[in-house]
Amino acid sequence: MTARRTAVAVVGAGPAGLVLAHVLRRAGIGVTVHERLSRAELERTARAGVLEHRVVEYLRALGLADRLTAEGERHGECELVCLGEKVLVDYGALSGGVRHWVYPQQLLVRDLIAAYEKDGGAIAFERPVESVALDGDGRPVLRTADGELRADWVVGCDGARSTVAAAFPDGGLPDGGRPDGGDGPARRYPYDWLTVLARISRPVEQIRYAVHADGFAGMMPRTADVGRFYLEVPAGEELSGWDEPRIRAELERRLALDAGDPALGGLLETGMLRMRGRVAARIRAGRLLLAGDAAHTVTPSGAKGLNSAVADVADLAGALVAAVRDGDERALDGYQERRLEAAWETQEFSDQLLELLHLPAGIPSGQREFALRLRLRRIHRIARPGPEAEAFARAYAGAGELPAAPAGPAVPPARAAGRDVWPSAQGGGVASRTTGR
Ligand code: PHB
Repeated sequence: MTARRTAVAVVGAGPAGLVLAHVLRRAGIGVTVHERLSRAELERTARAGVLEHRVVEYLRALGLADRLTAEGERHGECELVCLGEKVLVDYGALSGGVRHWVYPQQLLVRDLIAAYEKDGGAIAFERPVESVALDGDGRPVLRTADGELRADWVVGCDGARSTVAAAFPDGGLPDGGRPDGGDGPARRYPYDWLTVLARISRPVEQIRYAVHADGFAGMMPRTADVGRFYLEVPAGEELSGWDEPRIRAELERRLALDAGDPALGGLLETGMLRMRGRVAARIRAGRLLLAGDAAHTVTPSGAKGLNSAVADVADLAGALVAAVRDGDERALDGYQERRLEAAWETQEFSDQLLELLHLPAGIPSGQREFALRLRLRRIHRIARPGPEAEAFARAYAGAGELPAAPAGPAVPPARAAGRDVWPSAQGGGVASRTTGR
């Protein structure tokens, strides 16, 4: 039996994997997409929901944002509550017109899957990649439930416990694997966020961050009748210690919810988010590449996870098309440096916001007001026009542009890559050239 072949195997069908597969396929490149979860699970798992301006513009240019822009909401203001004061930050104005879009991640995933399939692409759901090995020429060989697949390139968009990262030759996991998955400098924060998805009486009009003596709380928009809430708890706290009345009371108190705010309805989902940051030491090893959470883990603070994952693949897509279609690996050679630099910028933003939103770990109660007063001053600085406010607003809302997607091929994509889950490099997809590495 001849081994199946593909030009690019994309592992993981989250937003990063789907966007990448889409762009590659439109450029006429043979792609396979492998996903551990079922389509139903993928389309119903609630996660992020706040999209940066530049990410939406990128998706829009690809024709992937029709529903998002029709049904999503634009947000350009957030509130910071501290010491009984509610400060409005009009970051849309401070940034010169850059605002977020609010649209739940699972709906975006649903739209991306639909668009990919409409183009003739297929996703292998519930087909995890069990392992990735390299043959004698450094070419990836994927082991899946459907047998062996030989790929010219493999991209791990498969999250913090990436199978592709684990295949990095000198060890994506140098010390035998860390509990947080992957290598590279990492930080475990001294607190966690208890997460809540809840029915609400009316939409959350703007993100609210409450900086409180008893810990941070957040209220984030999702849909007309669902909101996402966060409560700071000590690191390692168990969810079992938090029954529904306690969660409600704490949210209402810390967020200072009053008659003018959405009323909390039923809690739909609760969870614990272990707060950590990590940036991989390497995101390319020859023909193995990483993007999104496989390359870096960022805390939810600032809502950068999904956004930076799409930014990774916007860069990688052009670089891979040049490598596969034109045999030009120059852009790919710079991928790691560009995206690790961007990952550190993102970490810094998220970390600075965390610093503002939380009091120092273990601060005695008698010193909390002092720390809160310092935070209130900083809040005023980012709300008032000036260089600091402008820089915060532009980074927060995602000003600027992602690299444009490469142009499509002469042949329509549905014919170029076939309808097969396993488009063969010879059978239609553009085979990559053998170039060094
Ligand atoms: C969220 O929508 O979950 C979210 C938004 C902004 C943040 C953190 C979380 O800073």
